[in-house]
Amino acid sequence: MRIPQQGLSKEQILNTLQAFKSRDLDWKSGKVWCYVYDPGQDPAEVTRAAYLSFLSENGLDPSVFPSLLKLETDVVRAVIDLLRGDSNAVGHVTTGGTESIMLAVKTARDKARAEHPEIVQPEMVLPRTAHAAFHKASHYLSIKPVVVDIDPQTFKVRAEDMRAAITPNTILLVASAPSYSQGVIDPIAEIGRIAQEQNLLFHVDACVGGLHLSFMRKLGYDVPDFDFTVPGVTSISMDLHKYGYAAKGCSTVMYRSRDIRRYQIFACTETTGYTLINPTMLSSKTGGPMAGAWAILNFLGEDGYKRIVKEVQEAAWKLIDGINAIEGLQVLGEPAMCMFSFKSEALNVYQLADEMSRRGWYIQGQFSTPLTPRNLHISVSQGTIHNVEALLKDLRECVEIVKQSTPIDSQAIRAMVGAALQSPDPGAAFSQLAASAGLAGTELPTEMAFINEVLEALPDELCNVFLVNYFNDLYV
Ligand SMILES: Cc1ncc(COP(=O)(O)O)c(C=O)c1O
Repeated sequence: MRIPQQGLSKEQILNTLQAFKSRDLDWKSGKVWCYVYDPGQDPAEVTRAAYLSFLSENGLDPSVFPSLLKLETDVVRAVIDLLRGDSNAVGHVTTGGTESIMLAVKTARDKARAEHPEIVQPEMVLPRTAHAAFHKASHYLSIKPVVVDIDPQTFKVRAEDMRAAITPNTILLVASAPSYSQGVIDPIAEIGRIAQEQNLLFHVDACVGGLHLSFMRKLGYDVPDFDFTVPGVTSISMDLHKYGYAAKGCSTVMYRSRDIRRYQIFACTETTGYTLINPTMLSSKTGGPMAGAWAILNFLGEDGYKRIVKEVQEAAWKLIDGINAIEGLQVLGEPAMCMFSFKSEALNVYQLADEMSRRGWYIQGQFSTPLTPRNLHISVSQGTIHNVEALLKDLRECVEIVKQSTPIDSQAIRAMVGAALQSPDPGAAFSQLAASAGLAGTELPTEMAFINEVLEALPDELCNVFLVNYFNDLYV
């Protein structure tokens, strides 16, 4: 687009924007089992109104907008209370899980720089199931990721394997509560003991599940301790824009004490401009997400969250049982909450996801690794629970359809990818292959099974390069 010579009317603009959504997933139908956490109409309206009422206020400077300081400290104290931190614990609101994680890693790096200048190449020990945001943090902050494999039955890391990966360069241990991929909780207490023994920082990534798990505990469900009650845990990330049902753009990162948190804060007086003091990544930032989060925490209250968590858990268990009862499908591990994934030895799960998507469902494919099979992921949330039976019915039917359709020839695809990689110009050969799979230029693919097969057949490093190139072309 070009900026129009004369501005359009409000009506034209809003209609056009609405029309842009025509190809988006219809999350309002409750058929999208990830990405959106819908609290229902009333809470969503309160959040939206609160968000908009702080849209223009700028979180850059608390002395100009003390309201935002109040909102942020209120939200952080509420989260610390939920995670059973004491009055020494402190934290910040960030724009999302990725920012919270990047800040926790930066804090560890800068603390190590101050206290261990002898460490030239800092390392972070993390399970294979840790979120990709840690790899992004490694990439941005020049930390070496030391990845520890997981138990292929439980999908949890073994604490002793984490210990074995520690070197004199280690600055941080990481674990998840729970991991996104299979929804299981790493052995936080055991890793906490190791962190204490070795005098290391230990970050628990509770981005996706910290809030839901805490309310499960309050409801009396069996939840292993993963929060500030665990000795050795030094920081925790927890998102409000997932199972907190807040509007997007809201997470928290918390530290056991100010002594650690101080390494997160950045100040700069070296320029001709205004003095900059930023506790988080952004400088200018809207107050909307903080106000939205403050609003939903207060609107739902403990009772509201407990009701949602109970309903969502009951739906999730029904779904897990229902999926396990479908011949050929099997839920992986023992999910700790309402997120899980399932595999199939009888059919190609990527074909199953495509078949379901023809019926309007979105279920996320996850690639295999040497220790985990390819699988489909489901996150159950308040906006989807009414669809449990409908999902199971369509899954049962689609399983039969896929069983009877021609299977994708994975071996032939692997051979094609192998040949492309051996060709004199592997880049060109692979681009051709990707284009034939529907993954090229500025068009978005409609079916993923073949594409996923091709991507999965590639070594990780090449797959990453390919995906970077793809996005480089997709966004003009
Ligand atoms: C466990 C975990 N950590 C971190 C993240 C990253 O969060 P965000 O997408 O808000 O940056 C996610 C996202 O799903 C997650 O599940």
